[in-house]
Amino acid sequence: MTAPLPIKTVATRAFNDQRPGTSGLRKKTKVFEQPHYLANFVQSIFSSLEGFEGKALVVGGDGRYFNREAIQIILKMAVANGFGEIIVGRAGILSTPAASAVIRHEKAFGGIVLSASHNPGGPDADFGIKYNISAGGPAPEKITEAIFAHSKVIESYKTVEAPDVDIDHLGETFVGATKVRVIDPVAIYRDLMASLFDFSAIRALFASGFTMKFDAMSAVTGPYAKAILEGDLGAAPGTVLNGEPLPDFGHHHPDPNLVHAKHLYDLAMSDAAPDICAASDGDGDRNLVIGRGQFVTPSDSLAIIAANAHLAPGYSQGIAGVARSMPTSGAADRVAKKLGVGIFETPTGWKFFGNLLDAGKVTICGEESAGAGSNHVREKDGLWAVLMWLNILAVRKQSVKEIVRAHWAEFGRNYYSRHDYEEIATEGANALVAGLREKLASLPGQIFGSLTVAAADDFSYLDPIDGSLSQQQGIRILFADGSRIVYRLSGTGTSGATLRVYIERYEPDPARHDLETQAALAELIALAGSIAEIRKHTGRDAPTVIT
Ligand code: G1P
Ligand code: ZN
Repeated sequence: MTAPLPIKTVATRAFNDQRPGTSGLRKKTKVFEQPHYLANFVQSIFSSLEGFEGKALVVGGDGRYFNREAIQIILKMAVANGFGEIIVGRAGILSTPAASAVIRHEKAFGGIVLSASHNPGGPDADFGIKYNISAGGPAPEKITEAIFAHSKVIESYKTVEAPDVDIDHLGETFVGATKVRVIDPVAIYRDLMASLFDFSAIRALFASGFTMKFDAMSAVTGPYAKAILEGDLGAAPGTVLNGEPLPDFGHHHPDPNLVHAKHLYDLAMSDAAPDICAASDGDGDRNLVIGRGQFVTPSDSLAIIAANAHLAPGYSQGIAGVARSMPTSGAADRVAKKLGVGIFETPTGWKFFGNLLDAGKVTICGEESAGAGSNHVREKDGLWAVLMWLNILAVRKQSVKEIVRAHWAEFGRNYYSRHDYEEIATEGANALVAGLREKLASLPGQIFGSLTVAAADDFSYLDPIDGSLSQQQGIRILFADGSRIVYRLSGTGTSGATLRVYIERYEPDPARHDLETQAALAELIALAGSIAEIRKHTGRDAPTVIT
């Protein structure tokens, strides 16, 4: 240990736009690069916390542009604020689920994760920061609101004068009295995966000629996927595509959806298709799974994982329950019912799952936005979902397509799609939502074509563990036949507003499980447009992205 460094107090002025959204604070990189902007937010985090003196803080990010600079700022501020140890991933790298795993494994006080997830990176793209609590998950609203309150009145922040810390070599150094420990970003996560899944069964699967392509999208999962898939599990070299994390993700959107990972979809549908195609996003928490000739919607993936988790050693005792975000399809509900376990419907965003996981109410969680995870960490986890699928395939000795089809035959199929209208004017978006709220009371009982409205509301959630209430979490229109339309505005965008429209229809009849999704939902899609007057309020004839 070296002598404590003198604390430097830097005068600053408050910014008024630092309210964390669905997943931390996300802004254009240039906003974060303004003098004091990041430091203000970091001080607001520290000032909202109590009792961390002498304790450990985990710091890492997805490697995007500004990651390294941000880490140096955070390290020095953490030293000045009195943390006893800072644990940082080598080169500043930690995937979001790995950061959660490290916080838990090291019993840290909390962690700071630098990422704007699936949003593009670079000087003209996006950056983000969020705080995770000691359980490893995103800070609950009580803390994010305290951070925001502090950010509005901040007048100074604390830092130290010190040379930049070497974060590229494993080992320990001291900055003043604070230990800085640079760790292998992969090791703890890799051990955790080996403890949950049957690696020898998956190795045997690959040895038998099973083929895979995993696209790391030049983002954070490359090193994790190479070590686990090509290393531990014996997948062929070249299984991992775009495995080097790049600061600008190779100019791509690291978003594993049907737009930005279309090449993977095309491959999976082609004659040259491997047995499974998969991908993860910028920070490694989302997943995409496509079997040969069979796309798996995230909502179906959640349901299939819940139904089959017991096939993986880490879940062989069965699952305690399932949680899904409200807009996620009801496919998982049918599985939970059959298993006789609890099902919870929460607002959008992983932070709402934390209490349920901590209380042991649920084991598996998921969102329609390509997120699935379990109680092993407190974030969604892209590679975990892929490994779970590999474990299921290895045990069931069936193809992805056979497993999906068998699931639908047993539980029925929830046709599901999300239509996004990106970067629309904020006033129009707000007017659309206000218009819907006004209509809510008059909708029940109305008949539109073959559809009768059974109920309509603005979703609110009373957390069963801590009693906190979250209101206005999305407009729901529920129909008598179980179909749904949900509208909400994104809380992760960085310019203008994004309207998300979620459309779902349940089809029990296996003879009708082969419809094209948009066709199967056509009546609901048209109705979603007319009820909300989407064209009038957005000026758009069609969504920007359909998933
Ligand atoms: C989006 C997704 C949500 C997810 C979040 C963070 O948030 O819809 O499910 O938790 O990204 O990955 P939104 O932009 O809709 O607020
Ligand atoms: Zn992400």
